[in-house]
Amino acid sequence: MSTLTPTLTPTPTTALAPSKVGAVRPVIKTALPGPNAIRVLAGDDKYVSPSYTRSYPLVAKSGRGIVVTDVDGNEFFDFSSGIAVTSTGHCHPEVVAAIQKQAGELIHMSGTDFYYESMITLSERLSAILPMPGPHKFYFGNSGAEAVECALKLARYHTKRPNIIAFLGAFHGRTMGAVSLTASKPQQKRRFGPLMGGVTHVRYPDVYRGCSGGVQNAEAFALACATYIEDKLFRTILPPEEVAAIFIEPVQGEGGYVTAPPAFMRELRRICDRHGILLVVDEVQSGVGRTGKWWAVEHSDVQPDIVCMAKGIASGMPLGICASRADIMDWIPGSHASTFGGNPVCIAAALATLDILEREGVQNAAEVGQHMLDRMKSWTSTHPMVGDVRGMGLMLGVELVQDKITKARAHDERDRVVELAFERGILFLGCGENTVRISPSLLVTKDEADCAMDVLEECITLVEKDGVNAGRK
Ligand SMILES: Cc1ncc(COP(=O)(O)O)c(C=O)c1O
Repeated sequence: MSTLTPTLTPTPTTALAPSKVGAVRPVIKTALPGPNAIRVLAGDDKYVSPSYTRSYPLVAKSGRGIVVTDVDGNEFFDFSSGIAVTSTGHCHPEVVAAIQKQAGELIHMSGTDFYYESMITLSERLSAILPMPGPHKFYFGNSGAEAVECALKLARYHTKRPNIIAFLGAFHGRTMGAVSLTASKPQQKRRFGPLMGGVTHVRYPDVYRGCSGGVQNAEAFALACATYIEDKLFRTILPPEEVAAIFIEPVQGEGGYVTAPPAFMRELRRICDRHGILLVVDEVQSGVGRTGKWWAVEHSDVQPDIVCMAKGIASGMPLGICASRADIMDWIPGSHASTFGGNPVCIAAALATLDILEREGVQNAAEVGQHMLDRMKSWTSTHPMVGDVRGMGLMLGVELVQDKITKARAHDERDRVVELAFERGILFLGCGENTVRISPSLLVTKDEADCAMDVLEECITLVEKDGVNAGRK
């Protein structure tokens, strides 16, 4: 996604088309950015790291459910969930109550040096839903990158092997170890080397881009992406007995919401089994119900050895967890730890999140996600710019192209679609070079989803008609 240079000149307010869905809908009252937002943007420009990527000038003040209210009183529908994090919506009352209660009892004691019971309770809850049989062990950190760092170190430690296989298009985080696996944009690595050694990247089975032809060809292409590891890599540059792990996002997130076909995942499992390699699924973005099952890897019936999770697990509180089969987590005290990891307040938020997702969120993600997919799938035939619509549950991507034959990426057009949607009160983000990312709260209603899709389709139509200048006065 392009980096936003904040526009301090407000764009004119865009009148919203009449809603098809009743009363609850975004309310844009001021030009965007509004006067208070302009003040904050100026401060941000002065003080905040320019490495952050902002697509449009949303300055959030409060949130409730799907709605985020900005500092000027404009109300947006958040179909980004703060990058797939607020899985139960903003400030779900049960999550807020759990945080408040825990904050009044114990904020910190460092689970690395002392004990508290909620860490065990959360482990038990997660153990019951992990995609591989137990017993399990859990490591607690503060972010997705930390969950991945743990998996990296653990894989090397346990197998006593140095090398890792990861995928082009992957995003595993930005710390030195995690960024060595990350491979979705050159700026993530530029001028940071030398990075961690021992990483080989191979092609991810992006079926839309990699194969022309029907379902059979797609499966053959996906399988070929996996067998390349055994047939080429292991016979040329990478002795399999020196490979500790294969790291994979079952659905690539930053890479463009690209889904790995089940046949590919099963082939990876077979390769791992044959060569004593650990299969690590990075479910930081796709996990904890987002795809309509607890874990995206479950859609392919493959059992991983290690699972990384973060983002949606605690509805916005910082928590990253690395879970493994118990026999794998065999390192000795002092090998790995983090002062804040598994903070009691974050764990309380995670327990409340699991209650809500178990009760209604996972099922709702499957149902509303299917409703959205069914509607948007038709856009590939009705809209010249929509090349592909894909995803599972509420992890959906709409890939925009300049031409359906060449599949030339409509990067600037995608950015303009996202900006136009913002001006109409719907928050989307991009992912990959040219895909609109749709990742609302798992409690989103069909009406809210319809409202967002109405706006998205309107914005795509505008850009199809007027290009990247669509809507500019
Ligand atoms: C699949 C995946 N892994 C790891 C990360 C890194 O997470 P964090 O930003 O919390 O370090 C992300 C973040 O987007 C992600 O999507």
